[in-house]
Amino acid sequence: MSTRWRDLLYTALASTACALLVLGLNSDRYSFPVWRAPPDTFVWRHVEQHYPLTSFRPLPTEEPKALPAVQAKFPTESSEAQEIRLQRRDAVKATFLKSWTTYRDHAWLHDEVGPVSGEAKDPFGGWGATLIDSLDTLWIMDLKDEFYSAVDAVHQNISFETTTAIVISTFETSIRFLGGLLSAYDLSGDKRLLSKARDVGDMLYKAFDTPERMPIPKWNFNAALEGVVQSSPGSLLLAELGSYSLDFTHLSLLTKDPKYYEIVARITDLLHETQMSTKVPGLWPTKVGLTAQNLDAGSDYTFGAEADSAFEYTAKMIALLGGQVPQYEEMYSRSIGAAVRHLFYRPLTPENEDILVSGTVRNPAGSGPQTDTTAQHLSCFAGGMLALGGRLTNNETHVELGRKLTDGCIWLYRSLPIGLMPEACTITACPDPASCDWSKDINVWHDAVRYKYGSSRPVEDIIADNRLPPGWVNIYAPYYILRPEAIESIFVLYRVTGDASLMDRAWEMWTAVTGATATELANSAIDDVNPPAGQPLKMSDSMESFWLSETLKYFYLVFSEPGLVSLDEWVFNTEAHPFRRDV
Ligand SMILES: *[C@@H]1O[C@H](CO)[C@@H](O)[C@H](O)[C@H]1NC(C)=O
Ligand SMILES: *[C@@H]1O[C@H](CO)[C@@H](O)[C@H](O)[C@H]1NC(C)=O
Repeated sequence: MSTRWRDLLYTALASTACALLVLGLNSDRYSFPVWRAPPDTFVWRHVEQHYPLTSFRPLPTEEPKALPAVQAKFPTESSEAQEIRLQRRDAVKATFLKSWTTYRDHAWLHDEVGPVSGEAKDPFGGWGATLIDSLDTLWIMDLKDEFYSAVDAVHQNISFETTTAIVISTFETSIRFLGGLLSAYDLSGDKRLLSKARDVGDMLYKAFDTPERMPIPKWNFNAALEGVVQSSPGSLLLAELGSYSLDFTHLSLLTKDPKYYEIVARITDLLHETQMSTKVPGLWPTKVGLTAQNLDAGSDYTFGAEADSAFEYTAKMIALLGGQVPQYEEMYSRSIGAAVRHLFYRPLTPENEDILVSGTVRNPAGSGPQTDTTAQHLSCFAGGMLALGGRLTNNETHVELGRKLTDGCIWLYRSLPIGLMPEACTITACPDPASCDWSKDINVWHDAVRYKYGSSRPVEDIIADNRLPPGWVNIYAPYYILRPEAIESIFVLYRVTGDASLMDRAWEMWTAVTGATATELANSAIDDVNPPAGQPLKMSDSMESFWLSETLKYFYLVFSEPGLVSLDEWVFNTEAHPFRRDV
């Protein structure tokens, strides 16, 4: 057939198809405009890149390795056990619904609602942080009507082209908004969510338009929109550098656009290259520079604040990519090796429990690493990370360490009268972790208290005045802000080991959390978990979106059938948004 004939034939076929389509859809009308995709006007896809990337590595879409199963085999439960479990699950759902309804009725489309005042707040750009962070929880709790009206609102009324904020946190926007939308898309298949996720990705992509293509953690959105040339600061926090991998990679895999993955692959190269040449080899400091020469800028190393998810994501990237990029397994194993030597310590407790806490290691002068026996709520995710990472890398020692770290956080919760752990405190380590003996070692605690308070008064009086539980030295951040990390580790460990007693630990924690934080409207952060006896708890009128996204979701999943959001099919981002592992 000649080219001309082929062209004619194709034209004929195409117009017939068009006509059929028009007739089929609109048999009562004779003329109908041919539908065309609207022009893609989303502003961040059209702003100029000052430092455009010119090459992109291919997406890791080879055949993933067959990784070991993460979840335990669960026996059938008795009907009594099931009844208790379902009652507990429904209590969590009712609490979620109360917080959600208050948000919906008082602060719809705003970032947060004040759980005491009912006032709307916009600390995250004014894009409905609570709404987007709650989408997947609504789906998982089978609140489908609420889910779809929330998706309608995202589609119609949330735009990432303008903001009410002066400065945007790049990291928070990625884990909450991008992660929340991707997860809700994975669960529901609603394409409007993927489209909105791509908007967030393209907005955030501009926050990496710097000479080194490294992020601007506190990003001036409007300056970027006006075309101002921007750069990264000289140093930033580790979590602000290392916590994009899961969310950006997942966005690239779902859209087949490699540019988001390219950003994280470059950061991963930098982290992988520098990991063994820091002052505590295996760990990156909380404060990092942006090149291999100056990455080891700080002298504090921890799994807690300012660092956490950078470590967490090394293990989770193994799950997301089915082990295809070996850097992640290597980084994960190196960091745990260093943590076992320097970060984890056995606390001194009256019952001599065989448990662990993850602290802080400092090496200011390069004179040798010194472990500081801090205990941060943010570090409590580590138990879950080791349980997951241990399964994925076939290292049962990690699962056992994960158990002891989770038990450490449970002990920290149980230590105070109201049963909640503060944001951060200092406790005492056993001088000899192999043979911890409270009656013999109690003077170590007393010496630490005397040293801390520099007092010549009897140590018993100092302890009483400061309301210190046995083994505790001080509570330097006494607030509890509805954080999820302890229940997160209980959840992961439960799924990994199948140990049903963890459901009872979770329930105990639930009773303490809701007992202390419930308000008329919802649940509130509290200022001090250890007030003087008889004084009421002080509510701080704050309910961050992670209460609905993470804390309530993990509680709900602990009391659900173990197959609901199975860890063999899903991996959670650091805001508890589950991503499908096999896309
Ligand atoms: C979107 O905003 C309009 C105008 O404020 C409002 O009428 C509508 O109900 C909103 N849609 C959703 C789904 O919330
Ligand atoms: C498991 O992890 C521990 C602690 O990091 C390490 O010492 C050990 O060599 C690992 N075992 C295997 C089989 O890789």
